[in-house]
Amino acid sequence: MTTLDRVVGAGVDRIDGPAKVRGTAPYAYEHFSADDGVVWLAAVQSTVSSGRVARIDGTRALAVPGVLAVLTHENAPRLSDELSTDLGVLQTADVHYQGQVVAAVVAETAEVARDAVGAVTVEYAAQSPDVRLSADRDDLYAPEQLMAGFETDSVIGDVDGALAAAAVTVDATYSTPTQHNNPIEMHCTVARWEGDQLTMWDANQGPHNILNDVVEGWSLDADQVHIISPYVGGAFGSKAFTHPHQMLAVMAAKVVGRPVVFELSRQQMFSLVGHRTPTIQRVRLGADVEGRLSAISHEVVEHTAQISEFAEQTATPTRVLYAGEHRRTTHRLAKLDVPPPTIMRAPGETPGMFALESAMDELAHTLGIDPVELRIRNEPAEDPERHVPWSSRNLVQCLRTGAERFGWAGRDLTPRKRMDGRWLVGTGVAAATYPARRRKAQCRISVDGGGRYVVEIDGSDIGTGAWTALTQIAADALGVPMDQVQLRIGDSRLPFAGGAGGSTGTASWGSAIVLTARDLQRRIEQQYGGQLPADGVTVDGEVGGPSPHAETHSMHAFGAHFVEVRVDVDTGEVRVPRATSVYAAGTIINAKTARSQFLGGFSMGISMALHEESVQDETFGHYANHDLAEYHIATNADIGEYDISWLDEEDPLVNELGLKGIGEIGITGAAAAVANGYWHATGLRIRDLPITPDKYFRELGLG
Ligand code: MOS
Repeated sequence: MTTLDRVVGAGVDRIDGPAKVRGTAPYAYEHFSADDGVVWLAAVQSTVSSGRVARIDGTRALAVPGVLAVLTHENAPRLSDELSTDLGVLQTADVHYQGQVVAAVVAETAEVARDAVGAVTVEYAAQSPDVRLSADRDDLYAPEQLMAGFETDSVIGDVDGALAAAAVTVDATYSTPTQHNNPIEMHCTVARWEGDQLTMWDANQGPHNILNDVVEGWSLDADQVHIISPYVGGAFGSKAFTHPHQMLAVMAAKVVGRPVVFELSRQQMFSLVGHRTPTIQRVRLGADVEGRLSAISHEVVEHTAQISEFAEQTATPTRVLYAGEHRRTTHRLAKLDVPPPTIMRAPGETPGMFALESAMDELAHTLGIDPVELRIRNEPAEDPERHVPWSSRNLVQCLRTGAERFGWAGRDLTPRKRMDGRWLVGTGVAAATYPARRRKAQCRISVDGGGRYVVEIDGSDIGTGAWTALTQIAADALGVPMDQVQLRIGDSRLPFAGGAGGSTGTASWGSAIVLTARDLQRRIEQQYGGQLPADGVTVDGEVGGPSPHAETHSMHAFGAHFVEVRVDVDTGEVRVPRATSVYAAGTIINAKTARSQFLGGFSMGISMALHEESVQDETFGHYANHDLAEYHIATNADIGEYDISWLDEEDPLVNELGLKGIGEIGITGAAAAVANGYWHATGLRIRDLPITPDKYFRELGLG
């Protein structure tokens, strides 16, 4: 093997970049041609939130020229009743949420299918919807455990006693609204049966994730199903798990015996592919006069759906961020007539850090201590709940470096001190954190006699840069230039890998590649005396799951955000023209795509702070602003000059590459930094996101 410069760490251009720019990197919708005999599906969705379909009649729709089938719960093929969540589409007359699929039309063209939806007659026996989340509902319950296996509650010491004895306390309630994942590519499945073999071209975060549900739903063997997803246009969690549209497309293709295309509209995505649960969070902090925390309490109320339970791990960052002897985190759910929530970029950390990091800012103000200094004073020497050491933790260094890059020194502790023309100007800080995990993944590497490598793994590039980062990892591990490595990902026939989620992708897939590459090199050394055999070698390898050190160490990435916030003194318009974020996330594989991930996450946090809110009609249960005209997200015009950097951090314990995962940490803490900067600019504390202009007037008593 020749010695080469490592490419890991370099800002390598995306290898899929030219195809993306030319429009030749196909998304799910682009995997068919008119010659394939494809037909289109359109869904009839429930107009009520709760009850039953009392009568349904597809006769008129079926009479529309070009319509091939109308599926309802009365004629739909039966699916396994083992299916979880709402995947048992068209299996009963029950309605659990507004927008649930109650019928489907299959037609020769998309236009005819959509038109015929209006010709399906549906009558409901409806109940009035129960969609209002409040902290004083008497039906709140504790789920058995939270998502990702977290404990529902953690109670350590005597929190109430410590709060009563504390020199200074904060007791505040924060809330975050329902939000919807809005990737640029809408969810889409093209389903084709050939005999008992099923092929799906599908927009997802990992074909193996979807395969399991399809196999179960149709009682198939895994090798009867082939899911192909080489390029995916964003997801943020909504494409991690299977949703009803995938089951429905497969069902329709079976019924009509033709390939079926089903692409959701943007509006349909507001009921059929999940959302971020709204939260109500009470945070209580107790500290001594120097700001050392003695008590931390974080109690969360959030919603889940009638049809399935989703328990977001909102207070879990509070279990690791700061020292403090007496601690409590709890999660309670209200089961409402809402569509099933799902994961959305840093589920848990994102809403939870808004509350905790706002409360820390309030405590700093109460004490008259700089909020950066307050955080440094509460740096825990070990994981404060598990009492194990950190694999590595550089939050303090992120805070110090960020403060310097941003120009934090000399900041006035009192709010509403600076004006620039009509703009009230303030600055805010918040910490960021996200767990570093690794999951099982398998890999196959083949080399031919000429030294050309093929690396196969069912990893997934949802726009993150995985095509490029994994090729870099493989090239270094194999000791060859990148152009000698051909990567194959995004296909369920490739070796098993979990989806792109939980910021685990590169850690898991990259580790599998490194371990398999080592095996291959060992094989070449031992069996072939270091000479590549003429007909090549193939090796299968895997990484079994979490790092063996995860039991004895606490593993997290950390970061710090500093923002400048400007608020128009007359209109309450908010701008975030300048920010600095510094991360400590272990090895950075690709400096260019990593910066995009950090910047994208942070921008989504700006969006959360200022814009994003799904407004549910309490009488009828629907999301009133279910499109991008009225569900506002940050656009380029909302994003200012953001300085993104990271520390050199080595962590040999997390995984083979020492990387911690970077897809989600950028959003964590971002909304709190904005809310804290807003307070510093205006003297007004907004505890309910988003920080829209009307709240400026509400807080001034003018609204
Ligand atoms: Mo991410 S919300 O873990 O897909």
